[in-house]
Amino acid sequence: MILVILKDIATLCSISGVLAIILVIAHRFLNDYGIVKININGKKDINVKGGNSLLSSLADNKIFIPSACGGRGTCGACKCGITKGGGPLLPTERPLLTKEELITNTRLACQVKVKSDIYINIPENIFNIRKFNSKIVEIIDYTYDIKGVTFKLDAGEKIDFKAGQYIQLITQPYAKMRQSVSRAYSISSKPEEDDRIQLIIRYVPEGICTTWVHQQLKVGDEVSFTGPYGDFFLRDTDADILFVAGGSGKAPIKSILDHLQVVGTQRRMTYFFGARSKKDLYLTEEMKAFESVFEYFRYEPVLSQPKAEDNWDGKTGYVMPFLKETIRDPQNTEAYLCGSPGMIDAVSKALIAAGIAKDKIYFDSFG
Ligand SMILES: Cc1cc2nc3c(=O)[nH]c(=O)nc-3n(C[C@H](O)[C@H](O)[C@H](O)COP(=O)(O)OP(=O)(O)OC[C@H]3O[C@@H](n4cnc5c(N)ncnc54)[C@H](O)[C@@H]3O)c2cc1C
Ligand code: FES
Repeated sequence: MILVILKDIATLCSISGVLAIILVIAHRFLNDYGIVKININGKKDINVKGGNSLLSSLADNKIFIPSACGGRGTCGACKCGITKGGGPLLPTERPLLTKEELITNTRLACQVKVKSDIYINIPENIFNIRKFNSKIVEIIDYTYDIKGVTFKLDAGEKIDFKAGQYIQLITQPYAKMRQSVSRAYSISSKPEEDDRIQLIIRYVPEGICTTWVHQQLKVGDEVSFTGPYGDFFLRDTDADILFVAGGSGKAPIKSILDHLQVVGTQRRMTYFFGARSKKDLYLTEEMKAFESVFEYFRYEPVLSQPKAEDNWDGKTGYVMPFLKETIRDPQNTEAYLCGSPGMIDAVSKALIAAGIAKDKIYFDSFG
């Protein structure tokens, strides 16, 4: 009886083994799209191995489309026009595309798979985005969960960016993380220091990249990143400026202020920094010092939950109620917001209610 059962088990095992081999072979052949062509802006063809995402196929050819979420289909940064060969729109793309983008065949490069020849349109400035290799030269603990990390580029390398823009850090495998991922971080140093960049990185519990930065990286380590990306930079007007940031959202505003200190400005600027309690404040002296650098600049940290031991005598609550009183002329005011999606949403609503036009509100959402 036992022998019969063992024989049946052996037969079942060999059948499933054969099936598994057939499946592997079928998978290999069915997903073998061969070499396919990506035509870019009607001007340039590149040949790639079919089957990968458009985003990674382009990156393999040193064409770096912004991909702030690292290709997870949540940020919408990787939008590009596809005139032919993109296949049907995927349910993962729809929520991130506007009605107009749907009509104009805009797609998410991280979701589209290149299975046949494909014709795409991307802005020319994407060709300026490069990969950089660097060495960490400084790590500063700004708070219990925020570090400032400075990356010195390889000898002779320079990065040309606008104050406010971001890069995408590429992690290396560590602990159980077998794959590299890439994440967006705003540059906090000024563009005039073009042989290095500083980033301000807040630890996210369980976060792949921030755990790597906070727990693995040390001075002397070699790190790669791509960039510069983004359209969050100071517009060249004479309008009053409202900066609003929270947490590591201080990074691009610091870059803009450091840059303005170099080039000079007569613009009237007010900067609200929202934090929970005093232990979340950092670079306060440096920001306050700008009050004696610029003709009109005010730095206002606002604590939402100050602790008794903080002895806080500054502004409390959220920043929204304080915004209106600082706006002289809503028609001639620009706002630059940086931080969590919740903060950006709430502040944008308050600014629009105060009369600032939607298209004068610039933001980078770190969500
Ligand atoms: C344009 C842009 C600029 C950015 N600049 C900065 C910057 O200067 N400094 C900085 O610290 N971050 C910045 N970010 C956020 C950064 O890109 C990462 O999303 C963040 O550091 C988390 O990455 P991770 O790999 O550690 O976490 P992940 O492994 O991606 O996420 C782990 C978990 O945490 C959640 N999560 C992801 N991000 C956050 C967050 N920010 N807060 C709370 N929960 C989160 C995720 O939903 C997930 O459940 C920026 C984002 C964008 C889009
Ligand atoms: S890279 Fe974020 S949606 Fe495509």
